[in-house]
Amino acid sequence: MRLDVISIFPEYLSPLDLSLIGKARRDGLLDLRVHDLRTWTHDRHRTVDDTPYGGGAGMVMKPQPWSEALDSLAADDDSRPTLIVPGPGGERFTQQIARELAGKERLVFACGRYEGIDERVYEYAARDYDVRVLSLGDYVLNGGEVAVLAMVEAIARLLPGVIGNAESLVEESHEDGLLEYPVYTKPADWNGLVVPEILLSGDHGRIAAWRHQQRLERTSARRPDMYAAYRLSHPDA
Ligand code: ADE
Repeated sequence: MRLDVISIFPEYLSPLDLSLIGKARRDGLLDLRVHDLRTWTHDRHRTVDDTPYGGGAGMVMKPQPWSEALDSLAADDDSRPTLIVPGPGGERFTQQIARELAGKERLVFACGRYEGIDERVYEYAARDYDVRVLSLGDYVLNGGEVAVLAMVEAIARLLPGVIGNAESLVEESHEDGLLEYPVYTKPADWNGLVVPEILLSGDHGRIAAWRHQQRLERTSARRPDMYAAYRLSHPDA
């Protein structure tokens, strides 16, 4: 899979050199390229922003550097890469969307800063890209970079070979509508806090049932919205 990220702070993306994503890049599973938006400016100050029409606080990202960046990264053939613009005004990014995006050949991420990118860029981009505005959640970040770190990690870990143990992808939170069960490791008694007896029993049937029950209880307590949806789709659970 090829991923391009455009940002005025390319160093912000340096954690993508680390851990499993870094290894996937070195192994050639992930062709990830980070670009400085200022590459496509032509003035002495390498300007990417200007004041908003209509007034108001803050600055707006100018359309011209974005159009040149997007033109230079557009596909040579007639395949349409997906352009993801993270922003608090977008559709909520979910595990389901991560899965969908993990099936694409090419993704381009455009990191906005300031008050956002001139709206005409979205229209311009739609000529060559399938454009999606995606939000991590109902809070405001200073720019798209942190959101891209999260989205790239969520997407890349679903690609074959990126996570050593593919089984660990199965019973995860948000994969099947329930949160994860609690996990424990040695020692069985740690400072007087003990591991639930059943996990030491070796009875795999009862352990599976206990874990499922824990997932139901957790989901009901922490995410009543998910629990209600789960009950609707599993009426006899
Ligand atoms: N940029 C600013 N806030 C954001 C959010 N909540 N999600 C994604 N990108 C953002």
